[in-house]
Amino acid sequence: MNRHESAPGRMETDFFNKEMAERYDERNSKLSRISECLHFLTGLVLKDLPPRARVLCVGVGTGAEIFSLAQVFPEWTFVGLDPSLNMLNVCRERIKAAGLGNRCDFVHGYVHELPRQEPFDAVLSVLVAHFIRREDRLGFFQGMAAHLKNGGALVNAEISFDLDSPEFPSMLKGWEQVQALMGATPESLAGLPKQMRETLTILPPPETESLLRQAGIPAPLRYFQAMMVSAWHGRKRDEKPGRPGAR
Ligand SMILES: C[S@@+](CC[C@H](N)C(=O)[O-])C[C@H]1O[C@@H](n2cnc3c(N)ncnc32)[C@H](O)[C@@H]1O
Repeated sequence: MNRHESAPGRMETDFFNKEMAERYDERNSKLSRISECLHFLTGLVLKDLPPRARVLCVGVGTGAEIFSLAQVFPEWTFVGLDPSLNMLNVCRERIKAAGLGNRCDFVHGYVHELPRQEPFDAVLSVLVAHFIRREDRLGFFQGMAAHLKNGGALVNAEISFDLDSPEFPSMLKGWEQVQALMGATPESLAGLPKQMRETLTILPPPETESLLRQAGIPAPLRYFQAMMVSAWHGRKRDEKPGRPGAR
């Protein structure tokens, strides 16, 4: 497999500094019952991929989805992509320590920067899209779909809710409990609604589904919801060879 290393001095938009990257797994372990269920169901919806599927994980972070899927599908290989060098470094170390280094490549960067290569059987982004501004979200999903085989599987999990809905205050209470499990302080909880509106880009589920359809995933199915985290999967439209967009 080709290995792409980060370009020295490239611009990096890093939501995660070194300390946050190193503490990410410990912090998230409080939510392991949620992420285990998400990964378990993701494995089920991807079960019919080829035994030697190639999988691109966009926003791979410290590699949580790779660890889970690599166990269930022992012949799958992975490319983990992330614009955060801090997260990617932690991922690389953990993957190596787990003896999975020969099944994974790492790319520092964004999905639209990934060199064209043989298309993947599945492209995943798990807990990434809410970091991407509304105006860039369609391009992000299109970038994922561009690296998929026709009929390949796209998986997207994100923080998703209609923040202007009458149900939001009630959802916020539950979400505060989730954040408290992860170590939120009373001060950070007080700032949560502002962070959700101004730092993250949280879209209502129908908007995400519409964007996925526009990106070439005609029937995105929401297969998971835990509080504000939702996940969809769908197959890339099967274009006839020679038609624009077909690969
Ligand atoms: C919350 S972490 C999720 C990591 C991992 N997928 C997981 O489920 O544990 C979000 C990751 O998305 C990355 N990210 C942020 N913006 C991104 C973008 N525009 N494209 C790809 N990844 C991005 C961050 O650097 C971070 O590693």
